[in-house]
Amino acid sequence: MTTTDQWVEAARLADVRRRKRLAVTVAGRDIALFLVGETVYALDDVCVHKQRRLTRGTLLYGRVICPGHQWKIDPATGEIEDREECQPTYPVRVEAGVVYVDPGARVPAAPAAAAVPDEEL
Ligand code: FES
Repeated sequence: MTTTDQWVEAARLADVRRRKRLAVTVAGRDIALFLVGETVYALDDVCVHKQRRLTRGTLLYGRVICPGHQWKIDPATGEIEDREECQPTYPVRVEAGVVYVDPGARVPAAPAAAAVPDEEL
């Protein structure tokens, strides 16, 4: 995995918790934050298929369902069920109630998530 270690404050954890997803812009990139269980994931918000917004989709059994054509995306890896394509993901860090994303470490298929520390629960 490529790591640039350029963490950028993306959102307050409370705002991600409220709707389990949040569209943010980090360093000019449209990024979707999803909270699955107690883990925050970051993916490109724009679907690799036909550019629909993942944050307008749903979460089902830990998968992000694109509102365009219901592709099922693993938020941890960006892998798409039964497809060759992969949704880009980003490293995430959660600290003191703040979600940080490294927008320079866009990866097509690698883990990108951060468990919420116990003290944030
Ligand atoms: S636009 Fe996302 S599945 Fe088609």
